[in-house]
Amino acid sequence: MSEPRTPATTARIAAESALLDTAARRLPGGVLGSGRFSDDLAFVVKRAEGSHLWDVSGREYIDYLLGSGPMFLGHCHPAVVRAVTEALGNGSTYFLVNEPAIRLADEVCRAVPCGEQIRFTSTGAEATFFALRAARAFRKRDKILKFEGGYHGSHDYALMSQTPKSPKAFPAPMPDSGGIPHAIQDQVLVAPYNDLATVEALLAEHGHELAAVIVEPFQRLIPPLPGFLQGLRALTHRQEIPLIFDEVVTGFRFAYGGAQEYYGVTPDLAAYGKIIGGGFPLAAVAGRETIMHGFDPRLDGSPDYVSQSGTLNGNPIAATAGLASLAELRKPGVYERVRTIGGALMTGLADQAKKLGVVAQVVGEPTVFDIVFTDRPVTDYRAVLTADNARLKRFNEVCLRHGVLKGGSKIYVSIVHDEKDVERTLAVFKLALESVGRM
Ligand SMILES: Cc1ncc(COP(=O)(O)O)c(C=O)c1O
Repeated sequence: MSEPRTPATTARIAAESALLDTAARRLPGGVLGSGRFSDDLAFVVKRAEGSHLWDVSGREYIDYLLGSGPMFLGHCHPAVVRAVTEALGNGSTYFLVNEPAIRLADEVCRAVPCGEQIRFTSTGAEATFFALRAARAFRKRDKILKFEGGYHGSHDYALMSQTPKSPKAFPAPMPDSGGIPHAIQDQVLVAPYNDLATVEALLAEHGHELAAVIVEPFQRLIPPLPGFLQGLRALTHRQEIPLIFDEVVTGFRFAYGGAQEYYGVTPDLAAYGKIIGGGFPLAAVAGRETIMHGFDPRLDGSPDYVSQSGTLNGNPIAATAGLASLAELRKPGVYERVRTIGGALMTGLADQAKKLGVVAQVVGEPTVFDIVFTDRPVTDYRAVLTADNARLKRFNEVCLRHGVLKGGSKIYVSIVHDEKDVERTLAVFKLALESVGRM
């Protein structure tokens, strides 16, 4: 296998080491969020184009991180660059209704089954936070139910039992972070994903106090079991509890209409982010007008009013990038092609693990998946807890060393990854699995 410049073949240059030293001094942990590479593999991004990314030392990576998901069209997609470059000449932000924001609002509402109205935010965390607030104002109740292992951003309600190391009995939540007021634990109930019987029992006991049920329709990597989302819809509908889909990952990725279209279930509200901003800070809550109506500032002063404001809400540059991205995704064959490429990676990885006798499963959908080192069927968070994380860490590090960049527990596939990328990636996956097999 001829190898391009990667950390395996090419040392870090002094300029990149100096930047990493400054990052280590000025940024907690030397990073921008919770993800962190080991010191020997840390790098500083110089640029990215299509499905590839380069660091300051000129080393090249096939990018399956994709900015944690927004870059579904790949980096520097010419249609997005063109639209944004043109829009920049009209000003960067106004804090006022503008044409790109209105057009994006209309397009998202047309595309997604639950979309009647939409409120823009800047981040996915804000979108889920305000979806919950809107549901509480609508139902005039405080408590919410979420699923163990589900991620909805890093606000206080969301960081309950996302990654509990030793989970409690359901529905008791475990905070995932310091600094979250203890009182929040009384407001959040936690249920096991894909376990409709337990959800039903919890709703029978607590349904009367719930303002909302929030779920990732595809939880992290885990697809819903047949009937789970439909059952959740039926149960919440019966008890008139707003159902919120967190489509920050799945929106416009699984299908143009997101998980709602892909799995055929329509919630009352949905949160969007990532793809709809085309790589710029833009996210949204969309849903039924009866609930969304609470955001109308003319209600100010009434108990129905849901206060929500953000300096960059509906930012015209982000909305322009989003519109240009969605236009590309409406082209015929786009989803079929990306699913074929992702499917080839999933199958290739699973076949290699089997051939090498490495105990693992490839879990997910063709556009978002990863390898999980366990022999248990992965249908909920507790099954993920049985996975061998040391093996995953080794797998990720060998991939990175040989120029395949992925998330800690996620592989995102873009519409511009091609057969050449697949071939090279599978060769690197093989090296990584061989290394795992030697552990
Ligand atoms: C399902 C889900 N919801 C919400 C969020 C939060 O989005 P953001 O990082 O834009 O706040 C994320 C982020 O990855 C996510 O995956």
